[in-house]
Amino acid sequence: MSILEILETPSLLPERYKQMSVEEMETRIKEIKASFGNRLYIPGHHYQKDEVIQFADATGDSLQLAQESAKNDDADYIVFCGVHFMAETADILTGDHQKVILPDMRAGCSMADMADIDQTNRAWEQLQQYFSDTILPLTYVNSTAAIKAFCGKHGGATVTSSNAKKMVEWAFTQKERILFLPDQHLGRNTAFDIGIELAQMAVWDPLASVLEYEGNLEDIKVILWKGHCSVHEKFTVDNIEALRKSDPDMNIIVHPECSHEVVQKADYAGSTHYIIETLKKAEPHSKWAVGTEMNLVKRLGKQHDDKTVVSLNPNMCPCLTMNRIDLPHLLWSLESIENGIVMNEIKVDNQIAVDASLALQRMLDRA
Ligand code: 13P
Ligand code: SF4
Repeated sequence: MSILEILETPSLLPERYKQMSVEEMETRIKEIKASFGNRLYIPGHHYQKDEVIQFADATGDSLQLAQESAKNDDADYIVFCGVHFMAETADILTGDHQKVILPDMRAGCSMADMADIDQTNRAWEQLQQYFSDTILPLTYVNSTAAIKAFCGKHGGATVTSSNAKKMVEWAFTQKERILFLPDQHLGRNTAFDIGIELAQMAVWDPLASVLEYEGNLEDIKVILWKGHCSVHEKFTVDNIEALRKSDPDMNIIVHPECSHEVVQKADYAGSTHYIIETLKKAEPHSKWAVGTEMNLVKRLGKQHDDKTVVSLNPNMCPCLTMNRIDLPHLLWSLESIENGIVMNEIKVDNQIAVDASLALQRMLDRA
């Protein structure tokens, strides 16, 4: 579902949940969790709201949650507090007897929507003409199951922001070139980190079906899909320059979904997990401007009240789609399970799941 569709789609939440108090909802969630025990499992991504994360059985970044799903054999119901592609990954990595539920189907991801399978097949055909069989496809897990399956079928793998460097290095042991979907920024920042020059990177524009590059075609090592995260693109070089002037003591740390220019100007860059760990280890009274999702930045501020933690962009909002999962939707999905109804089940088509699990497994084996 595109961001526009998400904005226009009304919530199907029954009226009764809109009338309940926070205390009533929290009490009911606790009761249901207690009565289901291990049969119910609630993973929560770090970008989720506090009202939801308080009920998560496991919290983590995309990699940790994929690893947790792969390990969990007990739960009959996995109520995924995150976005659609994460729930798909959980479905692929769990058994047939386990049901994965997304509390609000409008919790998509604008980045994942930027690469569809028809565009990818068209791109592949064109790129094979330019480079013949020298390309390995890698996809950020922030992509649909169909894109993961495409990568699996062509010998490629998934990556997360925590292991992108390792996976890109591995990809170059397999083929001369990589196609990196769908986040051009994570792809560019990671390739640059391992010594590939910007001049050796091209950008595939899926809307125009055009390869954008300067220099010689034969020198291209990395083909970046022209996609981005609509949250992380809001951190700018201007934000960094303004902060350097107004508060030179501020440490600037950003997620690699930010643009290359922002990552280069920041003091530190790394995955969600890296950001959390860096702030944990930081000196008391140190100051941090963080370029990542706002729910997480606010939580880090609360957890580290001996440090100053602010958003790198003072006008930042949370990820709109992550925020679709809230207390009423969580309770609605849990009460449905209690009533024997599996609402909003995420079920990946069997053949897609088989191919996508090849790509995921290649990553998990190396993570
Ligand atoms: P990670 O959890 O891999 O850091 O990804 C960030 C993100 O944008 C999740 O949607
Ligand atoms: Fe997608 Fe960006 Fe939101 Fe993550 S933060 S779910 S990549 S839009």
